[in-house]
Amino acid sequence: MYYPDNVIEDIRIGNDIVNVIGEYVNLKKKGNSYFGLCPFHRESTPSFSVSPDAQLFHCFGCHVGGNVYSFIMQIENFDFMEAVKFLADRINYTLPKEDYSLEARKKAAEKDLIYEINKKTARHFYENLNSKEGIQARNYLDERKIGLKTRARFGLGYSFYKRNDVYNFLKNEGYDTEIILKSGLVIKNGNDFKDRFFNRVMFPIIDAGGRIVGFGGRVIGKGEPKYLNSSDSPVFLKSKNLFGINLARQSRMKEFILVEGYMDVISLHQCGFRNTVAALGTAFNNEHAKVLKKYANSVIILFDSDEAGTNAALRAIPVLDENGINTKVLQVEGAKDPDEYIKKFGKDAFLKQLEGAKSHILFLIQKEKEKYNLNKVEQKVLFTKKIAEILSKLDNEIERDAYLTEVSVLTSIGKSAILNEIKKLSDNNFIDINKTKYNKPKYEINKNGINEARLGMLRIMADDYSIFLKINSILKAFEFEVPVYVKLAEIIEKTYKEERSVYPAEIISYFEDIEEQKVISQVFLNDKKIKTENTFEKEKLINDWIRKIKLEYVEEEIKKELEKDNNSGIRLSELVNIKKNINSLNITLTDG
Ligand code: GTP
Ligand code: MN
Repeated sequence: MYYPDNVIEDIRIGNDIVNVIGEYVNLKKKGNSYFGLCPFHRESTPSFSVSPDAQLFHCFGCHVGGNVYSFIMQIENFDFMEAVKFLADRINYTLPKEDYSLEARKKAAEKDLIYEINKKTARHFYENLNSKEGIQARNYLDERKIGLKTRARFGLGYSFYKRNDVYNFLKNEGYDTEIILKSGLVIKNGNDFKDRFFNRVMFPIIDAGGRIVGFGGRVIGKGEPKYLNSSDSPVFLKSKNLFGINLARQSRMKEFILVEGYMDVISLHQCGFRNTVAALGTAFNNEHAKVLKKYANSVIILFDSDEAGTNAALRAIPVLDENGINTKVLQVEGAKDPDEYIKKFGKDAFLKQLEGAKSHILFLIQKEKEKYNLNKVEQKVLFTKKIAEILSKLDNEIERDAYLTEVSVLTSIGKSAILNEIKKLSDNNFIDINKTKYNKPKYEINKNGINEARLGMLRIMADDYSIFLKINSILKAFEFEVPVYVKLAEIIEKTYKEERSVYPAEIISYFEDIEEQKVISQVFLNDKKIKTENTFEKEKLINDWIRKIKLEYVEEEIKKELEKDNNSGIRLSELVNIKKNINSLNITLTDG
């Protein structure tokens, strides 16, 4: 659902950034700005600043920044739409009705009904658990050491032994059979209707927005199947749900613990690890990673200590990695899963384990090592090649060096030999590496100051309309290349075309992704502004930047063109021509 730009802007203007942030942070006025302790990182001297004029905030310590939406998204762990609703509420602004087609409205209404059914059923299960007939289930939870508070926090319940209890309950509440069936709680069996769940401990599955999307049910004690989950429904997609996400996001921690089972989540939450989630009974996939990424930037995989758990971890690592989530792995010893571990050894021992979680790279190396006999020379060589392959994927040299040292000790093969192997691989992989670069927007390209040139240029374009006009005649938005910069350049251009001024705080609202907002606020706050007042120096700098940005663009294009199987010579010679003429590109600031 998208609201018109003017609505987003009205709400932003109605929520003065100093007032809003003042509700979370103790701010003191200093000069034109307000300062306080940054709520996003630990600090003892204030480096968190809020500018009432620009309506932006920025932390000089951890470099978060943005407008009032960015702040609310991060402090409340909201996505953009949630932040809009929240800030609209705050000023009693009535949001326009969502403009749906009839078909879409019907679907939305159906979903709402199923959410309502799930909520009522969850409450019903909860009451069952605390009724006379719930005694066995209560005893079971006692046995598993799940306390009363935890039961309430997770809304645990019990489905009665009879197989028509839920159906009758929902009929009594006035729901049509058709929608009851769609909810997946009841199955049609000939002319009869039977509950999907009976005589099980019930776990409501709640999404990040706090809505109950489905249930899991565990047999009491032993029995098959051990767990039963809701079938897929208009509101429940197994491959998308993370159990515990509603609570984990509220923990506001940026590192999540990823476990395998319901009981692991519940147990860890009970001990205070509220950043724990589980992908239920399905392999961890891209959808899961996307949900996670909204709230966390780092994950500790903590799966069962058996082979299945190890394999599941090996499969989850690339999924997390590809989504840009920093990944560590932990396997506990002396217990089959984290639930058992924490009950056997306690919270402090568990915390120590967590702190010792290894980077996924080390985990991969260790798992590889188990496959080889390092006493044999040939095997050692094969192992080293394999490791080189793993390490060649790292683009951080410091990190790579640390692992190199470790592997070198492990194999007593010299660091330089392994490094050579990596170099060979990187050369062979040249084209692949570049291809992935095109797909993934990387925000911090810093080739010989190209990044600075782009940031500085965007800043000048936003600040000064007359300079913008000159730049725009020889440098186009797409030449900024990095998607977030291209988008910013386009927005600046569009704003001027509409004969409006560029307001940084307004511009940021066009970017819904927190990472992008960070980049944009960097443009406006990090003072990449040209420091000199001397017109000639300024002119020279701008022209340098123009040439640098254009050169980088043209070279990338040439590279792409050469990699094509059917590259057109026309495009190529065009590009080469542009490249030849870059040095004659010039704007002057003096003539009007
Ligand atoms: P406990 O045995 O109660 O400690 O369960 P657990 O949470 O530790 O689960 P386990 O490690 O056995 O399995 C991990 C997860 O896989 C569970 O939480 C379920 O989501 C899922 N799962 C396990 N067994 C079954 C099953 O028989 N059917 C289905 N559909 N899912 C299952
Ligand atoms: Mn278990």
